[in-house]
Amino acid sequence: DGLAVIVVAAGSGTRLGYGMPKALVPVAGRPILDIALESVADALPTARIIVTVPAGDTELSAVAAAHGARAVTGGATRAQSVACGLAALDSSARFVLVHDAARLLVPGRVTASVAAALESGERAVIPVLPVNDTVRGVDAQGHSTGTVDRSGLRAVQTPQGFEARLLVDVNLRAGLLERDQHGALAALDRAEDPEGITDDASLIERFAPEVPVTFVAGDEESFKVTRPFDLITARAVLEQRAR
Ligand code: CTP
Ligand code: MG
Repeated sequence: DGLAVIVVAAGSGTRLGYGMPKALVPVAGRPILDIALESVADALPTARIIVTVPAGDTELSAVAAAHGARAVTGGATRAQSVACGLAALDSSARFVLVHDAARLLVPGRVTASVAAALESGERAVIPVLPVNDTVRGVDAQGHSTGTVDRSGLRAVQTPQGFEARLLVDVNLRAGLLERDQHGALAALDRAEDPEGITDDASLIERFAPEVPVTFVAGDEESFKVTRPFDLITARAVLEQRAR
């Protein structure tokens, strides 16, 4: 039905510190990628899924294949891995969701609501949560510049959803993708990401500012496994779901 999902899993997991790609680290005996793909496929059973994996990987590719997903080699940064996924996109894809494998427990309701917002005509959709902590600014000397009004802030999660043509277009404008003489898309190797690009929606703001980025409700269970502490939470959520 023209919906594709790019699950980015090509990172090395340095902060987790397991000496293996983060998406391979087991939670309750299953690789993070396996759980993440189940979460996404349950919510969107007809979507085509592309997984970005580290160069030379075989294990994550096997996990992807077990879910009927296509594995492609990612890039040096998350943004470059997304571009690798976009280069592998079917030309019939109308909408594309980009999801972090590390957000393995994303509730199906969140994924479905991102897709539904696209179907209803939104072109760029992101799940967000209010910020619970008091947030302070800091200057170059490390001194406080005062509290920031958190009611005006949102924390951003994935999956982020886009009109496929729009996301391809901003990746072309950003120099993350190029078209060869036959019109085929290829990801560009580059030393650094375009400045200030921290997620997919920030590419829209920068390279297609006329397109509104709209919010849907995120969920605490969509947290990203980043450090060892997060594995404790992930295991606890899985155990609670199994009860
Ligand atoms: N990712 C990717 N390609 C990269 C870097 C990251 O596909 N070159 C993916 C990761 O696999 C992860 C998601 O982007 O699912 C979010 O990135 P992050 O949490 O930073 O994961 P890692 O880069 O693996 O972790 P670290 O930064 O600690 O090394
Ligand atoms: Mg990283």
